[in-house]
Amino acid sequence: HLPSFIAIVLSYLLGSLSFAVIVSRSLGMADPRSYGSGNPGATNVLRSGNKGAALATLVLDALKSWLPVFLIRWLGPDYGMGLGTAALAGLAAFLGHLYPVFFGFKGGKGVATAAGALLGIDALLGLATGATWVIVAFFFRYSSLASIVSAFFAPAFYLIGGGVAWPLDRTVLLTLIAISLLLVWRHRENIRRLSAGTESRLGAKTKKKE
Ligand code: G3P
Repeated sequence: HLPSFIAIVLSYLLGSLSFAVIVSRSLGMADPRSYGSGNPGATNVLRSGNKGAALATLVLDALKSWLPVFLIRWLGPDYGMGLGTAALAGLAAFLGHLYPVFFGFKGGKGVATAAGALLGIDALLGLATGATWVIVAFFFRYSSLASIVSAFFAPAFYLIGGGVAWPLDRTVLLTLIAISLLLVWRHRENIRRLSAGTESRLGAKTKKKE
């Protein structure tokens, strides 16, 4: 199905825009791949001490998946595209963030981009998962731990609310599981640091690479 294929490829290309690098470059800041965890993501940009740059990274990395999902849900039915295609476009943007064609396929961990996709699929699902992140981050002060815990909750929330808050769709469920598994896999170094007690807490600034 050609429109779906085009939409998914465009979503991947949009996801490939690594906003941590783009925002930092345009503000004349150091490349986030050169300090802290070395991860091109909002959490690591925050370690530079520039909260505005971190917020811009978070919002833009989320928007790049939210937008294609939202557009497909809105205009897709006219072109034979449904919720399943929208979810796959969200996965494509997420994969673009992890493996960006414009940045040598070395991307981030996909937390903000997964959040954007979730919000696009269902705002309530995105908000519930986002609230999980905030609660864990508030109590434990680890961005990575909050992301990993939220990754387990996202498909669980989708299943629990399925048929009640939103229709349960198999493609969406499988997509959410794929995103969650990849997200946890991308945090394997964080998991090692968390168990070794060396993970940096939210709010801690750093200049050197861990
Ligand atoms: O945004 C990804 C976050 O969960 C962890 O980032 O830089 O601490 O590895 P970081």
